[in-house]
Amino acid sequence: MLAMNKFRLLGTIVIIIAASILITSCKDKRSTGWEYAPNMYEHIAYDPDQRNDNFKDGKTAQVPPAGTIPVGFTKFDYPNTKDGYELASVEVKTVIAQTQANYADGKLLFAHFCSPCHGLSGQGDGLVVQHGYPPPPSYSKGQSSRGGAMKDLTDGKIYHTITYGVNAMGSYASQLNPEERWKVIMYVHHLQTL
Ligand code: HEC
Repeated sequence: MLAMNKFRLLGTIVIIIAASILITSCKDKRSTGWEYAPNMYEHIAYDPDQRNDNFKDGKTAQVPPAGTIPVGFTKFDYPNTKDGYELASVEVKTVIAQTQANYADGKLLFAHFCSPCHGLSGQGDGLVVQHGYPPPPSYSKGQSSRGGAMKDLTDGKIYHTITYGVNAMGSYASQLNPEERWKVIMYVHHLQTL
């Protein structure tokens, strides 16, 4: 009889504890309960779209001041025009060391990105040309559509071409970073001598 009462008491206590946990946990529907590392949810930094009294216009996302350049960004201030092309020809020179390693990288990048049209030896006979794409002129024997022989194309003219493209050739600015462009140019200079 006594044992039975003890069990009942224990049962009642367990039910009361369970019910109170249930009731208190349901009280605030928006509560996430215990949070691990709460500053991951409520961080100190401003959100881009958050109001911010530190700035005159009250916005967090500020437009960068004119002329600002992202860290690691290489400026190429020559417009995609004939004048920009000619000016780059005079002013823009390679910035990488003329080493065997850079040459080898350039050869590989050329094979991947340029040879489908220009051909592995730069004669304008790549695979897509064999299937009907307009052939580019040979680097060593052809004439540039912008005047002059292809073999005389300068660092700046080739860099301008890779950056913007020309006519049937698209821009390779998103595929090749500035350093890679200079490596490819090293290899194009070799093809100009063939
Ligand atoms: C989709 C085909 C295609 C690919 C890929 C291609 N080119 Fe061209 N390229 C052309 C054509 C076509 C021309 C001739 C355009 C014209 O002058 O009308 C040309 C012209 C050029 C010229 C001469 C520009 C001038 O001033 O006359 C250079 C330099 C050049 N390409 C370099 C490259 C390099 C470097 C790559 C690889 C990063 C490349 N091309 C990839 C099609 C291509």
